[in-house]
Amino acid sequence: MLETLNPQPQDKILQLITMYASDVRPSKIDLGVGVYKDATGLTPVMRAVKAAEKKLWEVEKTKTYTGLAGEPAYNAALVKMILGPGFADRAASVGTPGGTGAIRQALELIQMSNPKAKVWLSNPTWQNHPSIIKYLGMPTADYRYFDVETSGIDFEGLMADLETVAAGDAVLLHGCCHNPTGANLTPDQWDQVIALLQRKGAVPFVDLAYQGFGDGLEDDAAATRKIAAAFPEVLIAASCSKNFGIYRERTGILIALTSPDRRAVVQGNLAFLNRQNFSFPPDHGARLVTMILEDEALTADWKAELEEVRQNMLGLRKQLADELRRATNSDRFDFVAHHRGMFSRLGLTEAQVARLREEHAIYMVSDSRINIAGLNAKTVPVLAAAIAQVI
Ligand code: LMR
Repeated sequence: MLETLNPQPQDKILQLITMYASDVRPSKIDLGVGVYKDATGLTPVMRAVKAAEKKLWEVEKTKTYTGLAGEPAYNAALVKMILGPGFADRAASVGTPGGTGAIRQALELIQMSNPKAKVWLSNPTWQNHPSIIKYLGMPTADYRYFDVETSGIDFEGLMADLETVAAGDAVLLHGCCHNPTGANLTPDQWDQVIALLQRKGAVPFVDLAYQGFGDGLEDDAAATRKIAAAFPEVLIAASCSKNFGIYRERTGILIALTSPDRRAVVQGNLAFLNRQNFSFPPDHGARLVTMILEDEALTADWKAELEEVRQNMLGLRKQLADELRRATNSDRFDFVAHHRGMFSRLGLTEAQVARLREEHAIYMVSDSRINIAGLNAKTVPVLAAAIAQVI
């Protein structure tokens, strides 16, 4: 049986981890996978997470199964963190193994309820979106998103493409901090997209993996909240990997907004899907998040540290834009300061990205996406000088 398998193409983002690890040059710089790092290159365990883990060790009496949907208190706390108050009666939700697990469950839910629905993806998008869709054999289409000339949004192209969405199609939108580009819709553009998708009878499907990394915890949820209020049905796949720094704990949630009288049936289907794929969602990370969000002091400390993280990335963006202006003697890269989140797509060719890796030991995804948090005050000028050399 197994001899029929063909080799799988390597995941472009995860492949960089191995390539970087085997590079012996001490000056190497890792701007690949989307993981936050402090100035020393460490991905720290956040203070509130450590405190919650300590407390959990003391109070946890059992590790028996939770429910198929995960811990109800976790689901309630995250629905509130993402949507604010007022959605409890419309929100069906399940814990998932990370944001990827939530995306996968959302896609299967779409497939179960409307196998003909096309899933629309921004071009470009996080490469795992099309990969899972292809694996599931679902119909899909792209909408224009990024303008390579300005490194901003191609809003005309986006609206023209979404004009062709059919009723019942699902449109995947990055709630904030677009991955891989770093370019985000303005509030006014969001309003126009919402009005268009309402007119089309589309189902918004929001991927929210970086809440708190762009303009702040509340602002980063603003578009998702507008969407939640505007549509009868919305899917939201969210991750705690980044904003709680608990990547390997696999802590995510899928929220399906529906009408109060359909909620129980939708909830039952979400639990069914969890059962088919992995039974119970991972608990440890979800429990830590719940403990933090239910404790005022821990919440305050977590928010303060998350804000430090965000400010650090904003500072690096500004510094990088300034250094690139100096090094290239042009404003070509000013967009880096305006982008938000962990990533910016620099607009370099694959050959230039390869030269940065081979000649300068600087690692980024081949589409020239960089993880801003992979930089620090000392490596920013190194990157800027290297870019100036290869362009
Ligand atoms: C990324 O885009 O680098 C992260 O979301 C990590 C991943 O799983 O790809």
